Amino acid sequence: MPNTLTWYGHATLGLQTAGYNLLIDPFFSGNPASPISAEAVNADFILITHGHGDHVGDSVAIAARTGATIISNFEICNWLKQRGVEKTHAQHLGGGFKHPFGYLKLTLALHGSSLPDGAYGGSPAGLLLTTHNGKKIYFGGDTGLFGDMRLIGEETLDLAILPIGDNFTMGPDDALRAVKLLTPKVVIPIHYNTWSLIDQNALEWAARVETETTSQAVVLTAGQPWTLA
Ligand code: NI
Ligand code: MN
Repeated sequence: MPNTLTWYGHATLGLQTAGYNLLIDPFFSGNPASPISAEAVNADFILITHGHGDHVGDSVAIAARTGATIISNFEICNWLKQRGVEKTHAQHLGGGFKHPFGYLKLTLALHGSSLPDGAYGGSPAGLLLTTHNGKKIYFGGDTGLFGDMRLIGEETLDLAILPIGDNFTMGPDDALRAVKLLTPKVVIPIHYNTWSLIDQNALEWAARVETETTSQAVVLTAGQPWTLA
């Protein structure tokens, strides 16, 4: 069974794996880059990297409609429970758990995590997923460059999904350095071109990845599924 990834603009991703629909940082309402509405997506599990509004997004409404389980850090899961989300699974940095869809570990991310109402959202996270067929996928989340990406790279990544937008996260130059630390087989850029503040030329960045690193870069079109070989 293949792993199929769909980018919905900004940092919102869908992943079909092991017969489950995963949504990562589901930001549809108010996301100018999203090709579909929050009502149009399926989810068995929702993964949230940190508390910012462009990542928590529509998770409460989607969980209410679909009955999806939300996986995030302890603080965000508590906040979601207070908002009526019935099924949550709290983890924290460095901790992994074998979910029905695969083994998911929360990793370090260099960022903030306050929730939309100002509540404390714990530490921001990246996600490291080992799929049912042994593929390792790293979602950097919103993050600046940090040297311990080298440790994450030691896991031998098939795919890394990294922000390149600059201003709030790594920009193209630091994201290129991140690729050199992570050494994934494939890298996909996200968190750019949502607003003019984070406009970047992803094709130019991908060309630099291909000439300056050993990784292959894939630039996704929002709404177009892509299969991890
Ligand atoms: Ni953020
Ligand atoms: Mn963000």
